[in-house]
Amino acid sequence: MGRNLLMGMLAFVLSSCNYHERIGPPLDLGTEGIWYKTISEEIFGPHCVQCHNAEKAKGGVVITNVQELIDNSWIVPGDPDNSQLYTLVKDGDMPLGPTKVPAEQVEMLRKWIENGMPMTAPAKGQTP
Ligand code: HEC
Repeated sequence: MGRNLLMGMLAFVLSSCNYHERIGPPLDLGTEGIWYKTISEEIFGPHCVQCHNAEKAKGGVVITNVQELIDNSWIVPGDPDNSQLYTLVKDGDMPLGPTKVPAEQVEMLRKWIENGMPMTAPAKGQTP
């Protein structure tokens, strides 16, 4: 067996062991599930919460209340293109101000909504 193949298999085994334990970036969008913690830490926290918290709910949006985001149709689970929260971010309309959400994080948001907005990491052995 070639050395490269062996190394490849080793890398695969190691990466699959770490699959559900890993916290924080960088994420491989092709293979990893994205759940609320990721979205909260990478997007809502740094980019939205300052204006969309319970006290300062600009436009009536409290970004930390996911149920409310769904109830008020800001996000349609499974359908990012019909989720105004997503299209505003994708088009650069939110956040207000000069700092925009980087493309990689916008892609994470799309994937999260598309996957039905999982709130917790998948259990061991489950596919996200
Ligand atoms: C600097 C303050 C500020 C930040 C940061 C900010 N917003 Fe907003 N947002 C506003 C204000 C003000 C409004 C209401 C007025 C408006 O629609 O322009 C608003 C409105 C909204 C609305 C409702 C739009 C509508 O049609 O009424 C959504 C959804 C939203 N923001 C999502 C986000 C998301 C997601 C982020 C982070 C990626 C974000 N905002 C970051 C200030 C902010």
